[in-house]
Amino acid sequence: MSAIGWSSTTDEVLAGEDLSGLTVFVTGANSGLGQETARAMAAKGAHVVMAGRDQAKLDEAVAAIRASVTDAQLDTITLDLGSLESIRAATSRARQRFAKIDILINNAGVMACPFGHTADGFEMQVGTNHFGHFALTAELLPLIEAGTNKRIVNLSSRGHHFAPFNFDDPHFERRAYDPWESYGNSKTANILFTVGLEARLAVLGIHAYAVHPGGIQTNLGRHMTEEMVATLMARVTSKDTGFAWKTIPQGAATSCWAATAPELEGKGGVYCEDCHVAEVDDESATGGVRSYAVNPSYADQLWKLSEELTGAAYPV
Ligand SMILES: NC(=O)c1ccc[n+]([C@@H]2O[C@H](COP(=O)([O-])OP(=O)(O)OC[C@H]3O[C@@H](n4cnc5c(N)ncnc54)[C@H](OP(=O)(O)O)[C@@H]3O)[C@@H](O)[C@H]2O)c1
Repeated sequence: MSAIGWSSTTDEVLAGEDLSGLTVFVTGANSGLGQETARAMAAKGAHVVMAGRDQAKLDEAVAAIRASVTDAQLDTITLDLGSLESIRAATSRARQRFAKIDILINNAGVMACPFGHTADGFEMQVGTNHFGHFALTAELLPLIEAGTNKRIVNLSSRGHHFAPFNFDDPHFERRAYDPWESYGNSKTANILFTVGLEARLAVLGIHAYAVHPGGIQTNLGRHMTEEMVATLMARVTSKDTGFAWKTIPQGAATSCWAATAPELEGKGGVYCEDCHVAEVDDESATGGVRSYAVNPSYADQLWKLSEELTGAAYPV
């Protein structure tokens, strides 16, 4: 088999894996990378719980997966990450319906949306991408503790290069809103959350991994105007980055790798891209994780802020 890397697909990464008996919970599973992750894992025998905020979209995604994986074991659950009430209601239902979760894939996300707020008053990008997943993970923890594989994968992005987490003004209350700075803020938070999870949950045998999937044409760009697309492309293709789009199966491959690769066992708290663990790098435009995103004291600071704002209680 060729080496796993930039161009590997979900099916290539999972070749030889038997995921039967495992339950995988995927947020944003009705679209793009989440749907492909669900398909690929179901094809390897996993029971996949597909979370999304719209039952009709979830039903469509289930039908699309069943068209190629006829014996797929799929369940759906409605969940709006922009509402703590919805998260608590969904996770209460999940705890009644499912005995365990072996792998949680915090995949859902919004990018560069207009300025707005979640139901709880959080800025929309950091509220959906980080605070929603922080609360969800806390509520699902009893199910994860009952699992065997015990991994949490947080979808971040190379977009974390756009900005460190802004502790002074995380919700853009005292400065002009910038959709890319906000996306960077939220995607840095996804990595700091991964570092915080690893520090607290490794003792329970639960390990966390942050993932940059690559650049993939999905519904994520729905909020972008033509001008924003041009600006973003100029940014990602500047400085000879050698940028190329990945296909959706290539994009979801790093999530599948982080969720299953034996070589990652016990080695969480890392940021993965192109199916490998990335180096800390404060200069490169072509890859790597910024030091501000893996700084343990920033991770602790974000953890405290997230507990305060969401009211989520972790046992550790
Ligand atoms: N595509 C890329 O190039 C790229 C690059 C770097 C990182 N990523 C990350 O990869 C992840 C998946 O993105 P994608 O490219 O697959 O985008 P996508 O096709 O737009 O999928 C995003 C998913 O998130 C869901 N979602 C958004 N807001 C939600 C909310 N409030 N509650 C529950 N679900 C919500 C969406 O549901 P609806 O369909 O209902 O809106 C959709 O299912 C994101 O975290 C993104 O930041 C993507």
